Amino acid sequence: MIPCQRSLFDIPDEITYFNCGYMSPLMTSVSEAGIRGIMRKSNPWELSPVDFFTESAEARRLFAELINARESDIAIIPAASYGLAVAARNITIEPGQHILVLQDQFPSNIYCWQELCKEQDGKIKTIEAPANKDWTSKVLAEINTETAVAALPHCLWTDGGLLDLEKIGARLREVGAKLVLDVTQSLGAMPLDIARIKPDFLIAAAYKWLLGPYTVGFMYIAPDHQDGIPLEHNWINRKGSEDFSTLVDYQNDFQPGAVRFDMGQRANFALMPMAVTALRQLLDWGVENIYETLTARTTLIADAGRDMGLSSVPLSHRAGHFLGLEFKGGVPKTLLQALAADKIFVSARGNSLRVTPHLYNNDQDTARLIQALEKVTGR
Ligand SMILES: Cc1ncc(COP(=O)(O)O)c(C=O)c1O
Repeated sequence: MIPCQRSLFDIPDEITYFNCGYMSPLMTSVSEAGIRGIMRKSNPWELSPVDFFTESAEARRLFAELINARESDIAIIPAASYGLAVAARNITIEPGQHILVLQDQFPSNIYCWQELCKEQDGKIKTIEAPANKDWTSKVLAEINTETAVAALPHCLWTDGGLLDLEKIGARLREVGAKLVLDVTQSLGAMPLDIARIKPDFLIAAAYKWLLGPYTVGFMYIAPDHQDGIPLEHNWINRKGSEDFSTLVDYQNDFQPGAVRFDMGQRANFALMPMAVTALRQLLDWGVENIYETLTARTTLIADAGRDMGLSSVPLSHRAGHFLGLEFKGGVPKTLLQALAADKIFVSARGNSLRVTPHLYNNDQDTARLIQALEKVTGR
């Protein structure tokens, strides 16, 4: 268990922030890295060509370590939607085949597949939410030889419903289907091992559980797909781009590995050092330890919620860092506003109040949230 890390953040005592699934606050060290990065652009005569490569290489290396991949398997992207578009651009489906998605999945992991189906005469097959909360069995039951792709999260962004990606990945390989993962709502808080799950593509935006800046993300591309087509063709992804004096010796070849899929201007001097600082801290804490610590906090809140008649997905089928407290008749319309007036910040998704803590939360936060919910439910 990791002790409370609130002092690393700039969060006033009276703020109770249980909304990491919306956007994480930045650690002070991360904001400072960003400010230093902005100031470098004030003095561009101090930036040399090598600076366009070093920070992004370090970010790639750290992200690779987080998921047990190789640095050369990682591309730098600005948003989950960009990474998912890269995946969709590099997947071919046979007419009539389907792409599996979950009911109420996040839209960035839906629209690109709808477009692919239009272009290639495929179908979207939406898996309905299981009454018993067991998404894994439901997904496994839907995979067959007609499946071209499963485009999935590790846990659902509304209530934290969990998928066993190792089992699902193995079944998809049996039928020759691809696995594309958007792990924006889990990576950094929940352990994940590429070598066990073996996805074709994995995408994560950095501004939630990776504790990084907005408009930065990372993408894993399996070696089999690394000769694919990038979304855009920029100069830095081509062979020999380190030598600025020969850039107009236009190159057909790319930099090795997944680098060819990097977004343009990936050497972002303000945002990249922020991502690097945040990734270093996550690795330092250890994702398993983060997961265990956050699970303990959501379990306390889930138990208190149950006593108030607010159900949640049982821990056996829920990601530990994530909690949805379900209100039978829907989340009361004025609840978020009332909680915000008390400086308690959560989200509402569907019928659930989404409670997503991080290491900055303390026992006082938990007590304040429970007390506020007791007031609303009258228990
Ligand atoms: C599951 C999931 N994926 C991705 C995102 C962000 O998508 P994008 O980076 O395309 O804005 C969110 C934001 O809430 C999300 O919940």
